[in-house]
Order: sequence, then structure tokens, then C-alpha cells
Amino acid sequence: MSVSVLVGVQWGDEGKGKIIDVLTKDAGMVVRFQGGNNAGHTVEINGQHFVLHLIPSGILRPGVPCVIANGVVVDPVELVKEMNMLKSRDIDVSGIQLSTRCHLIMPWHKLIDAFKEDSAKGDKKIGTTKRGIGPAYSSKADRTGIRGGEMRDLARFEKHFRDNAEAYNREYVPMGGAELDVEAAWKEVLAAREVLVPHLADTVVTINEANANGVHVLLEGAQGAFLDIDHGTYPYVTSSNTTSGGACTGTGLPPRAITEVWGVLKAYSTRVGEGPFPTELFDEQGEFLRSQGGEFGATTGRPRRCGWLDAVACRHSCMVNGVDFLAITKLDVLDKLKEIKICTAYKIGDKTVTTFPEDVCDLARVEPVYETMPGWETSTTGILDWNSLPVNAQKYLKRIAELTGSKIGIVSVGPDRNQTFRV
Ligand code: GDP
Ligand code: IMO
Ligand code: MG
Repeated sequence: MSVSVLVGVQWGDEGKGKIIDVLTKDAGMVVRFQGGNNAGHTVEINGQHFVLHLIPSGILRPGVPCVIANGVVVDPVELVKEMNMLKSRDIDVSGIQLSTRCHLIMPWHKLIDAFKEDSAKGDKKIGTTKRGIGPAYSSKADRTGIRGGEMRDLARFEKHFRDNAEAYNREYVPMGGAELDVEAAWKEVLAAREVLVPHLADTVVTINEANANGVHVLLEGAQGAFLDIDHGTYPYVTSSNTTSGGACTGTGLPPRAITEVWGVLKAYSTRVGEGPFPTELFDEQGEFLRSQGGEFGATTGRPRRCGWLDAVACRHSCMVNGVDFLAITKLDVLDKLKEIKICTAYKIGDKTVTTFPEDVCDLARVEPVYETMPGWETSTTGILDWNSLPVNAQKYLKRIAELTGSKIGIVSVGPDRNQTFRV
């Protein structure tokens, strides 16, 4: 019985999809436990490029059951599109299980998300993906949400859909929200329902039974620690618990079931959307990381903000997540640099701290204190073992382990599934 949780250590886009695909080689089930199609998880296999938004990245290893668990918010129309995309590329999606307890992202959630983002002024903008994530989790919390299982009973589902759709039009249209064409929206959702009903399952039982039967279960997190609704840079966060604790509530597995936590950490920092980012670079160095790392959103295509690795933030994240092993990705992106910086402390006024501030206003005021390390100025993309890494790359990785108090389990030196090695 073993359950591994994999989470993002930073602001998302650390390479979770790639590492999940690698770890799925030894897994018997892969489960998404939070977030929705705000996620964009990329996997590259021998030149084939896949971007998954809702379906676990384990789907690309044939024969491994994939589950979308109760903690996820699911846009039925988008899920069917993603299934069709995979089918068109000869990936078998027939075994996907969808939780009866997951909450559905409905058309009005997307309109509310867009309305709020577009009408927000100044620092009130979050820079969301406009996929309806926040409004869907709000409906869940205020107990008006529609759960996946309701799709089984057509009459009940239709009534709940129409009641909520009409309530949206009554409430939001007078404020300037876009009017929802209820008939057209229902038609689209109805078509998706036909496809999804056979996939509905009590996934709490599926996952717990698999674990009890000795199947190695891999839990795939989305986003990253600093986008966590409790532990992130609130309010510039997503609306779910992205840290490892969310894996229990998001699947129905008890805490004792978790045997291992993987933290995926990019060798530098990126962030999409608004909110403080202490090590952000606004100069040609930041531009270098963006172009060299291909740092453009896998979901929205937005350019990602780039900066040096923030070890103060990563240490905090490793503590909250209880990271056993780090998977360090995108080391190769730093190959050409003469010098590499790591933020090891923050200056706030005349104080120097090594802890992560609790409040976003304090975080916005910090000045990073950097340690400079020599680069290795040679390509790492073909390297497949620790001893073959340039000594300065080894030193950089060891320093990350030391500063975060975590062990390194995997190093990734390119986007392909094979450009990876265990340490
Ligand atoms: P996720 O959301 O955490 O799954 O990450 P994304 O897929 O959004 O972004 C990671 C990007 O980096 C994708 O384009 C990956 O193909 C790519 N990637 C992952 N690992 C590596 C690596 O080690 N080196 C390079 N150069 N690219 C990588
Ligand atoms: P993966 O799983 C990076 C960010 C958005 C925005 C904030 C809230 O690919 O790492 P939301 O639409 O969730 O309400 O937006 O969270 N965000 C992500 N940033 N990677 C992601 O997912 C993200 N999912 C949401 O840019 O700042
Ligand atoms: Mg991503």
C-alpha cells in the first residue's frame, strides 16, 4: 500500500505533468485531486506534445486507470473536448472515472469569472484564467453547486441547471454581466452529459479500494503552493488547496494513507497572473529565462513572469507540503548562464528575515537578498546521471536541497519524458 502525492512547490508550471508521466511508469492509478481546467500540464514523448487540463497526466501510459476525484471542479464541456482530443491521438480514455462528488463548472461560473476580472480595478485584479474556477468553488462553499452525480438524474439535473442559470441572469445582468443564453448553454451541457454519465463513479471507494489492494496510487496536484487558497499569496491565489493536505480532502484518502510527497521545483521562478513575486526580473535576464524556458502559459498562452529561484519561499512550501523528495526541473534552461542567483533571505526595511511573510502586503515590500553561484556554461540536456552533471550544476542543486531542507529525488534536463534521471 503506497500513495504518493505530487505538488508544485512554487507558483505553478513547475513541470508537474512531465514528472507525473515519469512516475506513472511505476504507478497503478493516477488521480487529480483539486483545481480544474485552469491547469495546463505538458508532457512530451518523443517529439509528441500533449497538454492536459483536467485529465491526469498518467493517461499517456496505457493501462493505468485515471481518476478525476471529488476535489476537482469539472467543466463537463471542456472535459469532453479533452477526451476527444486524446481519442483523436489514439489515447484510450474509456477507463476514466469521474467523481460523483466533484462540483461542475457551469456556464454562468465562467461569465461571473470574466465579469469580475474585467470589472476589477487596479490591485483588485487577480489575473485568473477565466475558466470559472473561483465561482464554481464559491458555489460549492455556499452550497448551491451542482455535483457530478446529479447528471445521472436528468430531470433533477435540468431543474437545478435552469434554476441556477436563471438566478445568474436575474442577479448579474442588471450589474453589467453578460446575459446567458440558457437554451444554448443547456444544449451544450446536455451533450456533454451523455458522454460523461458512464464515467461517473464513487471514486472515494475506487481509490481507497485500490490502495487497500496494494495498488500504487499517484495523486496529481495542480497549480503550486503559493496559489493555495490558505497558504498562498492571498488574495492572488486560486480557489483550492494546492498543497499536499488538499490531497486527502480532494480524494477521500485518510492522511495516514499518504506515504510519500513529491515537490516539483523549477530551477528558477515563474508566475502567471497578478500578485507579489519578490525575485521577479524585469531586465534582459528575465527575458532570457522566458525565451530559453519557453515560459508562456500552457492554458492561456500568457507570457509568464520570470525570476531567480526564491529559496525562502521554497523552504516554506516544502515545510507546508512535507516534501520528502524534490523533482527539480528545467535545469537545462540555466545552461548558458555565467552566474546564477538564489534568493536566500528577504530585507524588510532594515531587518533581514529568512521566513516567508504571512501577509501579501509585507511580501510585496521585501527586497530579495541573493547569493551568487557560478554557472556551468555547458549543455546538460543529454545528461542522464548525477555524476555526469557539471560540478557547478551539482553544487547548485545541492544548495537548493540544503536551503529547502529537502532531498533531491529526480532531476529533469529537458521537456521529454526521457530527459530525466533519478538521484
Ligand atoms: P505544469 O503545469 O507544472 O505541468 O507545467 P507546464 O506544463 O505548465 O509547464 C512546464 C513547461 O516546461 C512545459 O512546457 C514542459 O514541457 C517544460 N518542461 C518540463 N520539464 C522541463 C525541463 O526539464 N527542461 C525544459 N527545458 N523544459 C521542461
Ligand atoms: P498548473 O497546474 C500557473 C493562476 C492564475 C491566477 C490565479 C487564479 O498548470 O501549474 P484561477 O483561474 O485559478 O482562478 O486563477 O492562479 N493559475 C495558475 N498559474 N499554473 C497553473 O496551473 C495555474 N492555475 C491557476 O494565473 O494568477
Ligand atoms: Mg501549467
